[in-house]
Amino acid sequence: MDTLDSIKKKVKDMPSVSSNTIRILELISDEDYSVKDLAELISMDVSLATKCLKIVNSARFGLQSTVTSIERAVNFLGKQAIFGIVIESGFDYVFNKPLEGYNAAEGELWEHSLRTAIASRLISIRIKQDNIADLAYTSGLLHNMGKVVLAEFLKGQTDKIKEKFKDAEEVDFNTLEKDLLNTNHEDVGKMMAEKWGIPESICMAISYHHKPAEAPEEYKKLCYIIHLGDHFAMLSGCAESFDSLAYEVDPDSKEMFNFEDEDIESLMFDIELEVIHAKQKIFSGD
Ligand SMILES: [Fe+2]
Repeated sequence: MDTLDSIKKKVKDMPSVSSNTIRILELISDEDYSVKDLAELISMDVSLATKCLKIVNSARFGLQSTVTSIERAVNFLGKQAIFGIVIESGFDYVFNKPLEGYNAAEGELWEHSLRTAIASRLISIRIKQDNIADLAYTSGLLHNMGKVVLAEFLKGQTDKIKEKFKDAEEVDFNTLEKDLLNTNHEDVGKMMAEKWGIPESICMAISYHHKPAEAPEEYKKLCYIIHLGDHFAMLSGCAESFDSLAYEVDPDSKEMFNFEDEDIESLMFDIELEVIHAKQKIFSGD
C-alpha cells in the first residue's frame, strides 16, 4: 500500500465524532442561530452540559449562586468559550497529543488553533463581517486538524525535513508535505471533515486556508479570514514546530481587507488579550 493509501485508510479508521457535536457545528454555521438553540443542543449532551456547568460554577468565577441552566452558562461564559469546550471535547482525537512529525509538543496544536480562532473572529469583526464571526472562530479551531494524521507519517522523516530547512532560505511546508507524502494537511483535514459530516463552510475553510484565492467564490471571504488569522496566530505564538511561519502568505490578503500596519499591530494586541481570557474561561473548571 503506498503512503497516500495508508493515509486514506487511517482517516477511514478514525473514531467517529458524536452527532450532537456535528449538529452544534451545523447550528453555528447558520448565521441566524440563537443562543437558546445552542443551549438546547448542549443540554442534550450530558457530559458536555456537565462540563459547561462545572466551569461556570468553578471557584474562579466566584458566583454567589449556582448556575443550573445551560442558557445562563452560555450567556455567562460567552459563545467563544462554549465553542472551545464543544470542540475540544468533541474532537479529542485531534487535540492534546504531541505531533511528533511537526516537532509540536502536546497542546501546541490546540494553542495555535485557539489563537487562529480568536484572530479570525477579530478579523471578521474588523471588516464588518460580524455575521460570520462565529463560523470563522469554529473554522479557526479546526483548520489544521489534518496534521494529526500526517504527523504520524512525517514522524520517521524528521531528518529529511531538517535537511530541507538547512539548505533552503525559505521552505513552504505545503510543498514539503506534498513531496514527502503526496498530500498535505489541508486535503487530509478535508477528508477527515467529510468523514465526520462537518458542515461544508468549515470543510472549505480547512481545505483552502493556505490557498484562499483558489476557494469557491461563495467561501472565499471566509477562507481569506482563516488564512490571515492563521498567519497572525503564527506571528503572535511562540511555537517551536517545524512549520511555524513556513507557509506562503497570499500577497493580496492584507490589501483585500485594507489592513494598514497599525491595524495589524492593534489586532495582535487584541489577539493576545483574548487568548489569555479564553484560556482562563475554558480551562478554569479543570
Ligand atoms: Fe495549516
